[in-house]
Amino acid sequence: MNILVIGGGGREHAIAKKIKQDTPTDSVFCCPGNPGMTIDGIETVVIDLSDVDQLIAYAKKQAIDLTIVGPEQPLLDGLVNQFQAAGLKIFGPTKEAAMIEGSKSFAKEVMQAAKVPTATYQSFDQVDSAIAYLEQQEVFPIVLKADGLAAGKGVVIAQTRAQAIQTIKRMMEDRIFGESGSRVVIEEFLDGEEFTLMAFVDGVNVYPMIPAQDHKRAFDGDKGPNTGGMGAYAPVPQIRQSLIDDSVETIMKPVARYLDAQGSSYSGILYAGLIVTQTGPKVIEFNARFGDPEAQVVLPLMESKLVEVLESLLAHQPVDIAWSNQVSLGVVVAREGYPTKVEAPQQLPDLSKTQDVAIYYSGVKKVEDHTFSNGGRVLLMQAKADEFQQAKTTIYRELAKMAFDGFYYRKDIGYRIR
Ligand code: AMP
Ligand code: GLY
Repeated sequence: MNILVIGGGGREHAIAKKIKQDTPTDSVFCCPGNPGMTIDGIETVVIDLSDVDQLIAYAKKQAIDLTIVGPEQPLLDGLVNQFQAAGLKIFGPTKEAAMIEGSKSFAKEVMQAAKVPTATYQSFDQVDSAIAYLEQQEVFPIVLKADGLAAGKGVVIAQTRAQAIQTIKRMMEDRIFGESGSRVVIEEFLDGEEFTLMAFVDGVNVYPMIPAQDHKRAFDGDKGPNTGGMGAYAPVPQIRQSLIDDSVETIMKPVARYLDAQGSSYSGILYAGLIVTQTGPKVIEFNARFGDPEAQVVLPLMESKLVEVLESLLAHQPVDIAWSNQVSLGVVVAREGYPTKVEAPQQLPDLSKTQDVAIYYSGVKKVEDHTFSNGGRVLLMQAKADEFQQAKTTIYRELAKMAFDGFYYRKDIGYRIR
């Protein structure tokens, strides 16, 4: 088969590599991809993702059998709608269904209507009423979220009323998160262990993956600014299986059923960011796609063939997905300065001699034959093992072999595992 993966980061590298491993004779094209992916036999093709006509023409010319969308922006731009209208097979939600990620207030409305547990909230499109609301609040910290997409950076946890009011002004008046701050959700602060539950969804049918945990802060001990994710692991042993089953029944399925009943049936990956509170799991956010870096640790544990599963889902046939009993852990290597400053491209050490690990590239480019950083997060090194300790030992041994001058990585990925 000919498969097209839309996107260019570590998540898309993981999707494409999984397909190549499942069926080496499949041709996998990634648009725009990145030059790191070519080590796994993935072909890259550069087309502007906003030029949907050209993407459709390419998919037809290349006889693409199935397209898989990695990132959220093309979903919200309606790439799936347009591919479907052109008669092309594509896996991912329509732009209407992807609003579960595209608008935090829409996600909240869905959760309220579907009676899904989440933080209590109010949404505001006027700065004065947002401030008036904050003046009345008694409990801090409180959570402030820019409504639209903000690359994982649109959330501020304000410790005091004064800080909350100042932040609201910066979001809504100064637009520190751009247009996504024209509407703001103010919600209750939830305390507890966080985890990610992703599922394959076909309308009302929900097939959960193995849960994962991301490390969003830049530095060891969960210090420093929020990032797109500095490492992840799966499964999450400190989350009991009964909580995961509860999350599927009380969160994922009601949302899928509600969207279906509303006429914007969900087909794709549904990502729930969850927090285990005293009263059970509650939703922090939904995404309309695989998580990055969660995909890079979860997909290597999937034993079923990815394309076969997606084809069954698209044909509305039931699927039975087999998962490995092993564990998986991944550590992100980022350019120094990330996420605060974008530093100039820096050459990466030669990683061709690493052993027992997989490498998923994200922000890299090739200059002659050398690989350079091209952005903040550069790669994720992942290992599978019978025990987490073994996976950690392998990865940190391989990372230590290399001189990563001008880069950094967290030394404590997986420290919450109990
Ligand atoms: P998000 O971009 O929605 O994933 O939020 C980023 C991070 O902010 C999450 O991973 C949580 O750690 C934190 N967060 C978001 N909402 C809440 C909340 N209601 N209570 C506590 N922490 C939150
Ligand atoms: N790892 C968080 C995300 O993909 O949004």
